[in-house]
Amino acid sequence: MQFETLRIEVADGIVWVTIDRPGKRNALNARVRSELLAAFDELRDRDEVRVVVITGSGDRAFVAGADIAEFAERSPLEQRATMQGRRIFEELASYPKPVIAMINGYALGGGCELAMACDIRVAARSAKLGQPEIRLGLIPGGGGTQRLPRLVGPGRAMRMVLSGELIDAVEAERIGLVDSVFEDAELRPRTAALAREIAEQSPIALRLAKAALRAAEETAMSVGLALERELFITAFSSDDRREGVAAFLEKRPAKFHAR
Ligand code: COA
Repeated sequence: MQFETLRIEVADGIVWVTIDRPGKRNALNARVRSELLAAFDELRDRDEVRVVVITGSGDRAFVAGADIAEFAERSPLEQRATMQGRRIFEELASYPKPVIAMINGYALGGGCELAMACDIRVAARSAKLGQPEIRLGLIPGGGGTQRLPRLVGPGRAMRMVLSGELIDAVEAERIGLVDSVFEDAELRPRTAALAREIAEQSPIALRLAKAALRAAEETAMSVGLALERELFITAFSSDDRREGVAAFLEKRPAKFHAR
């Protein structure tokens, strides 16, 4: 896979997708967005891909938001057309494989929203997160007003969105916006270790677990519990379940084959 604004590396079932515009703090322009969609489409059906990690190039930014230069050029009608197309945020949330955001610097605006659409967020201690759109006379447009309150609660989300404040990684972890904070030098190895741990699990069970957890964001408890039961039975029907249970009883590591 060759892209102008992305670097893709594959190792041990883990795909590292690096947004590569360091000179623009990896801001999401139209090209990055369309290449991200194309890359995720391409990776979707590859069995050897177990987990995806998204990160930003360089040591300054994960993603510093939407490309503000594009805002200066667009009419409201053009902006509407852009936002009505397929969107990477929604693609990631429903993606059939686990996606980890490795936040290596600023995750602002669309960058924070991109991270929130991922399944797990890990951050370098020096990272900073925020939804600063209000300072541009704007509001979040990549899901920030919906995903942020679900992660951190309505009051804190209001404070972040209305003030545009940036918070550091430790504070982000405290309020539930990121799941783990690692020392800067440890970020990549610790993320790789987490990704490997997930990559060793049954891809079928991973897909079903993610679907059940995602449903919890949208459905009533009784509907979610019914769905969970159905997805459990689906997992129960897999060869991977037979292998996982047999491996436990035989006191050996399981080898899952996505069947
Ligand atoms: N869109 C377009 N360009 C951006 C950008 C964005 N969101 N964020 C940074 N850049 C560009 C800058 O314009 C600058 O370009 P130039 O060198 O051609 O002038 C380059 O990236 C470096 O930015 P700079 O501000 O000098 O880097 P910094 O490391 O001192 O600061 C930030 C980094 C992220 C704090 C700062 O760039 C910033 O506040 N960016 C905007 C964040 C934002 O409002 N995001 C929400 C958008 S809706």
